[in-house]
Amino acid sequence: MGGGEKRDRGAFGFSNMGFVAVNAVLLSRLLYERGVRYDCSEMHSGGLFFEGEGKECKNEGVHLNTSPSKPPALTSDTHKSSVPSDTVINFDHGDPTLFIPFWRRTGESSTIVIKGWQSMSYFSDIKSVCWFLEPGLADSILQLHHLVGNAETEGRHIVVGTGSSQLFLAAVYALAPRDTKEPISVVGAAPFYSSYQAASDYLRSEVFRWAGDAYAFERERVGGEERPYIELVTSPNNPDGFTREAVVNGSMGKIIYDFAYYWPHYTPITSPADKDIMLFTVSKSTGHAGTRIGWALVKDLEVAKRMTMFIVLNTIGVSKDSQLRAANILRTVISSYERKGGIIMGRGAYENFFKHGHELMSKRWERLRQAVDIHKRFSLPEFPSAFCNFLGRPSSTQPAFAWTKCEGDEIEDCEAFLKSHNILTRGGRSFGWDPKYVRISLLDTDSNFDIFINRISNIN
Ligand SMILES: Cc1ncc(COP(=O)(O)O)c(C=O)c1O
Repeated sequence: MGGGEKRDRGAFGFSNMGFVAVNAVLLSRLLYERGVRYDCSEMHSGGLFFEGEGKECKNEGVHLNTSPSKPPALTSDTHKSSVPSDTVINFDHGDPTLFIPFWRRTGESSTIVIKGWQSMSYFSDIKSVCWFLEPGLADSILQLHHLVGNAETEGRHIVVGTGSSQLFLAAVYALAPRDTKEPISVVGAAPFYSSYQAASDYLRSEVFRWAGDAYAFERERVGGEERPYIELVTSPNNPDGFTREAVVNGSMGKIIYDFAYYWPHYTPITSPADKDIMLFTVSKSTGHAGTRIGWALVKDLEVAKRMTMFIVLNTIGVSKDSQLRAANILRTVISSYERKGGIIMGRGAYENFFKHGHELMSKRWERLRQAVDIHKRFSLPEFPSAFCNFLGRPSSTQPAFAWTKCEGDEIEDCEAFLKSHNILTRGGRSFGWDPKYVRISLLDTDSNFDIFINRISNIN
């Protein structure tokens, strides 16, 4: 499968695209169906949750029965041998828990203390366009991009958001014309990130509407004039991991680039991205999804102002506590590197996040490819390698998700097939694609990944 490959739409026309798998619904359905009460506050241990006496608890769908007085050792082998085959593992969502052991090891250097009297005001820097952006976070963002070389920051305004999910909406509202009654069409080339459609359909806004696959988008004209539209470009793409560019290329198009995965552990950094609106998030860069911090680099001052206004009306700014934490996390990453004669080197005494992340993702892809190779039931995309300016060597693409195809005519619905093997994934339809494909998260904990590899190796 190539990056720009178009599928044969056949039976999978637009009517199916209204089918949206919202993960939260799936998760709550799973919890409900399995009669699980979600109460994990006291039982979190090494990224896994255990069922204790009179208390049930789960994480990513894995349940382990333990005696509360004698928990088992947290080794991969324990899970392989003791996890029953009817245990459901949830690889539907991209929860980046694989990075927890790294951050645990950083100890004090990634820890901040916020005193009771601190970060109480709504305001952070009233001279900034985005007046609720913490100056320390702004500095860390600029330094990180400078270190990694993945984005041009010169002449850009930073807008912080509660995750890049909020920034996607802020950008759409900022770009939509005010003087028309018709909602602006928002498109993305299929397979597209499923939440764009899910959020758009859920909101049923009068300002914009999800218009589906950018490849199939027919530019509209009113009175001989082309109507404006917005294209979302996710690069590397979620779900398939390929590098992307805009495909509609109309004269009235505005483009939002989502660079959530343009980081060295997922893909080679070949040049600094230099676009008008670029979205990033700590969820996928450092793995701090729970901190809910994303940022936009925006060229146009008016667009940055309108995005800021959206966030003010939506949430009156963004949690300062989260911003301070995110700033410190980014500083921890930055301070583990130094530049020597133009070359980026890891500082000896520190573990380097991107090196670690790159090795983790490499190993996961290697194991997945080996497992899939056994029975050839599934196929995976092949990626070209390229010179990564940050790593200073050729590097392969190793996406956060495995865009997997069920081979063979007898399997029409890959999500249902894997579900019958107690592996939850997100099916192709959610991404405007063919149900023979599923998106499998590779960001889960080591122990869950071990279970997954074991299970997938045995499907024939
Ligand atoms: C492409 C893409 N953009 C945005 C997001 C959302 O990021 P955040 O957690 O910052 O809202 C995700 C999360 O999976 C994503 O895959």
